Amino acid sequence: MPVNENVLVVFPSPAGVNENVNPIYLDNQATAAMSPGVLDAMIPYFSDGYGNPHSSEHAFGWRAGDAVDTARSQIADALGFDADEVVFTSGATEANNLALLGFDREECTSFAISAIEHKSVIAPVRERERNGSTAHVVGVDRDGRIDLDELRTALASGVAMVSVMAANNEIGTVQPLSEIAEMCRASGALLHVDAAQALPFGGFNAQVAAADLVSVSSHKAGGPAGVGAQPVFLTSAEGDRREPLPDAPRDEQRA
Ligand SMILES: Cc1ncc(COP(=O)(O)O)c(C=O)c1O
Repeated sequence: MPVNENVLVVFPSPAGVNENVNPIYLDNQATAAMSPGVLDAMIPYFSDGYGNPHSSEHAFGWRAGDAVDTARSQIADALGFDADEVVFTSGATEANNLALLGFDREECTSFAISAIEHKSVIAPVRERERNGSTAHVVGVDRDGRIDLDELRTALASGVAMVSVMAANNEIGTVQPLSEIAEMCRASGALLHVDAAQALPFGGFNAQVAAADLVSVSSHKAGGPAGVGAQPVFLTSAEGDRREPLPDAPRDEQRA
């Protein structure tokens, strides 16, 4: 099924419609306000308590480093991973790119995505295609649920990585992640889940933790914009952890 990569919808600016109207923001799946608790927790690190978490020679760096460690553990706990599996990125866009382009195993040359993935998944998969990989675009039904039979067929053809979103950014469809994870595991394919839209709503942890790589976004879930999203690498909280891939990005310096 072809993917339309060039859809552009232009909304009039609220001021252009009627300057006297005070618009109500209804686009919280694009970005949401920071939660007051997060803002309060972060403010000191922008004023008196700032420091470079990599400055290992002084207390300012240690304090910032401790704060990063705490955030990393909180994210890991929330998603059911270990702290050392969490890599911070600038957002889910970078996390998705990292997941799909970040390691270059020789055997990882065939991908499957659903037909309704975010452009930050489509673009790196297209990039992989330009470099010789195969991409299967698996169809969805009228509610946006991925066609599991079509996915099974793609997996049987030797797909090395499947990338699906947990919840769709436009119609809210929730994908059957447990079934998809089971199918990937049975065929030996890696599963990347773009959970950017799922994190704010919770309740996805078990399914999300069944993935090998997960992308989440901070600014859609009450956190700051432009920072704090992360893919989580290398496998399920349900036992049976895979060995880290030798060339997977493992930390922010390399990311
Ligand atoms: C499903 C999905 N994935 C990825 C992204 C990109 O997220 P970010 O803005 O954190 O880069 C979005 C943003 O709307 C999204 O809805």
